[in-house]
Amino acid sequence: MTTSLTVRDTLPDDHFARQLHEDVRTGLTADPKTLPPKWFYDARGSELFTRITRLPEYYPTRAERQILRAHAPDIAAQTRARTLVELGSGSSEKTRTLLDALIAGGTLRHYAPVDVSRAAVTDAAESLMADYPSLEVTATVADFDTELPFPDAPGPRLVAFLGSTIGNFDPAQRTAFLGRLAAALTPADAVLIGADLVKSPATLVRAYDDAQGVTAEFNKNLLRVLNRELGADFDPGAFDHQAVWNESAERVEMYLRARYGHTITLPALDLKVTFALGETLRTELSTKFRRPRLGTELSRSGLNPTHWWTDPQNRFTLVLARPTEPSARPKRLD
Ligand code: SAH
Ligand code: AVI
Repeated sequence: MTTSLTVRDTLPDDHFARQLHEDVRTGLTADPKTLPPKWFYDARGSELFTRITRLPEYYPTRAERQILRAHAPDIAAQTRARTLVELGSGSSEKTRTLLDALIAGGTLRHYAPVDVSRAAVTDAAESLMADYPSLEVTATVADFDTELPFPDAPGPRLVAFLGSTIGNFDPAQRTAFLGRLAAALTPADAVLIGADLVKSPATLVRAYDDAQGVTAEFNKNLLRVLNRELGADFDPGAFDHQAVWNESAERVEMYLRARYGHTITLPALDLKVTFALGETLRTELSTKFRRPRLGTELSRSGLNPTHWWTDPQNRFTLVLARPTEPSARPKRLD
């Protein structure tokens, strides 16, 4: 087969203008202030995330890679996927283990990474093209909060959602996302979800507050995105990076905390926003899971978990699930 790369951009031309403006106006005028994490990932943010994945403190990527290396052949045998769709694919680095196993199993023809970061998804697709000449690659720039753009490629499809990006939703967003995902699958398809597990708060907080300050730079990159896209005048130096373990919600929360009281001007929104001394902007939630709870959430969303794998230290899990018949879905209890 001839190597082929298609890049699709499903984001409307005014996506930044519309969605970013809306998110920033809503988030910065709310009390407490919050912003969705998808805006971290311009080209610099995606590079900083890649640097995070190599930090000694940030264990999730290594733990998930360990699971993939040990069990990718099993995943390939269970799914026999002809098309691998990957949501929030980023650099697609770990995915190579899955691609290798699916190619070795003789089924894979098509890889379809989907990411909101045009830079990350096109760089990854170009490098994969060079290394996997037998694969057809369709890279899609899209926002999975609003759409699940699966390319028109042959099934069975395996939809991978790795890296514990599922942890970045709040519970209501997670339920909505899983429901949309289940509805987008045919009975022959499967999903593979990577989820970080609850562990000691010290280990968790260290993973989000590393000694070299790379996560702090990643966090503050959001302010640089707002400066560039909205003409805002944030001084990243006016904020401290904070990572906090929220015990009751079982999630790490990232904040930017104002070092002194000051006012930001956002000309594109015709908006001024005041930060009091010590006031925080919540930039990310990173939920940590327990297997039974995640299993229940998947079942309630119409996804039946069939296989679970964990690393030897039980830090991270990969779960394979298949869509249940709509009539077989348990009624929601909440
Ligand atoms: N899957 C990779 C990258 C995880 S980082 C890994 O496991 O290492 C999260 C990725 O999801 C980033 O590449 C980011 O650009 C992407 N992302 C975040 N929110 C998104 C959204 N709403 N729609 C599409 N992609 C999104
Ligand atoms: C992409 N996501 C799963 C990462 C996480 O661990 O929540 C993003 C990240 N934020 C800080 N470090 C890494």
